[in-house]
Amino acid sequence: MELIIQRDKNAAALLVARIVANEIRAQPRAVLGLATGSTMEAVYAHLVRLHQETKLDFSGVRTFNLDEYVGLTPDDPNSYRYFMNQHLFQKVNLNLANTHLPNGRAADLGAECRHYEQLIEQAGGIDLQLLGIGKSGHIGFNEPLSALKSRTREKALTPTTIQQNAPFFGGEANMPRRAITMGVGTILDARRCILLATGEAKADIIAQAVEGPITSMVTASALQLHAKATVIVDEAAAAKLKEREYYRWIFANEPEWQEYR
Ligand code: GLP
Repeated sequence: MELIIQRDKNAAALLVARIVANEIRAQPRAVLGLATGSTMEAVYAHLVRLHQETKLDFSGVRTFNLDEYVGLTPDDPNSYRYFMNQHLFQKVNLNLANTHLPNGRAADLGAECRHYEQLIEQAGGIDLQLLGIGKSGHIGFNEPLSALKSRTREKALTPTTIQQNAPFFGGEANMPRRAITMGVGTILDARRCILLATGEAKADIIAQAVEGPITSMVTASALQLHAKATVIVDEAAAAKLKEREYYRWIFANEPEWQEYR
């Protein structure tokens, strides 16, 4: 795992966007794994800008989102399909037929989850997976005790997550209790993973995920098992990491990061 500390939230999001843009330029038919949440909004804003200013071409790109709430229609402003349409899909030249999210309204949710795994496989697997982190330590909606080998499935949300996301729904009472999410195992199959976390509210959970033990209680810690995982944080989210100086040294000196410094 690599840990990169950026000055602030915007610099961290810009770095993630540049990595994604380079992936698309190197592989015009790249398969991207995408994430939602407020942290990702800045990443998508930068990608839209790169599309406008540098003609970054999304026409061959295929996308698979991590998760979707159970029961919400695609035109519900709180659905992740709606979020993706608003922040990215409608603002770049992505072919909507190449964008995928689990269908949280499927009559048979189990079959929908199996189908989602098949679609990812048929696309050749995910080249680059973007991730946020919830306060419960989740990646996607892989709440505490999610098996580290889990695949796409339906999950019940923890009280921490319901509390964290309820403001978007105008209160806990209106928030779905369940979601479909790629499993931890599905995520670990991606060829590269990038997790972005910003703000002091994420400092504790980032320290646990990066420097703590690998545990299903904090599913983001499973990224320690991945051969090519990068965690990008701002100073605020880095505040509780013990080895900050070492991480800074790596980013400042490793040739791999030269073009991003
Ligand atoms: C939701 C998503 C996660 C995301 C998290 C972070 O719970 N299911 O994939 O990582 O939000 O949200 P935020 O960026 O708003 O802190």
